[in-house]
Amino acid sequence: QVKRDLEGVSLLVTAGATREPIDPVRYMTNRSTGKMGYAIAEAAATRGASVTLISGTNRLPVPPGVTFVPVQSALEMYEAVMERLPEQDVIVKAAAVADYRPKEVYDQKLKKRDGILTVEFVRNPDIAFEVGKRKRPGQILVGFAAETEHIEEYARNKLLKKNADMIVANDVSQADAGFAVDTNRVIFVFRDSPTKRLPLLSKLEVAHAIIDEIVRLRAERK
Ligand code: C5P
Repeated sequence: QVKRDLEGVSLLVTAGATREPIDPVRYMTNRSTGKMGYAIAEAAATRGASVTLISGTNRLPVPPGVTFVPVQSALEMYEAVMERLPEQDVIVKAAAVADYRPKEVYDQKLKKRDGILTVEFVRNPDIAFEVGKRKRPGQILVGFAAETEHIEEYARNKLLKKNADMIVANDVSQADAGFAVDTNRVIFVFRDSPTKRLPLLSKLEVAHAIIDEIVRLRAERK
């Protein structure tokens, strides 16, 4: 029996990898499949939230009852998030947003030539950072951190830098946690409460554990 403890709450979740175009037939991306973000969308919807899923990958089935917004690049994801930000109560940034995009997007397919091809990259906006700046009292921002070392310390830095309320950090150097698998081993880092370390769980179980914390944070504010 699932609790309906997010009834009346608007939750926006970003998921998956962004695709940064190089030319009409090529793009740069990363190994994120979107499983964690989709699990959060599914769990939040079953617990009664109005869920908007902004996704950079669309190969996973969209959970029932969720408003689905497919995007490609980080810039598109940025626009999609900012447009919908004012009406959200909770923002969960589970997407693996590319930090860089090719400086120039060629409008014709690049032809092969002899020698080295150089592509210049420019920084993408940090969507979570911008959400943290605009966050109004009452809105809750949850970010993710994928690290290979110093997990808690790096997660706490991210919490402060992005003005988030909670960071979900995972050790992507472990084979059973992180990218493209159905399980995750995470720690939760908060501003005022002690860090929590969870055992190896399915991504859907992790999603429900994240929502338990969101419900607690919301109750503490009231
Ligand atoms: O700074 P770093 O990429 O490690 O932080 C990860 C968190 O920031 C994740 O929640 C991710 O979704 C978010 N992020 C973002 N926009 C970026 C880069 C990361 O929203 N350009």
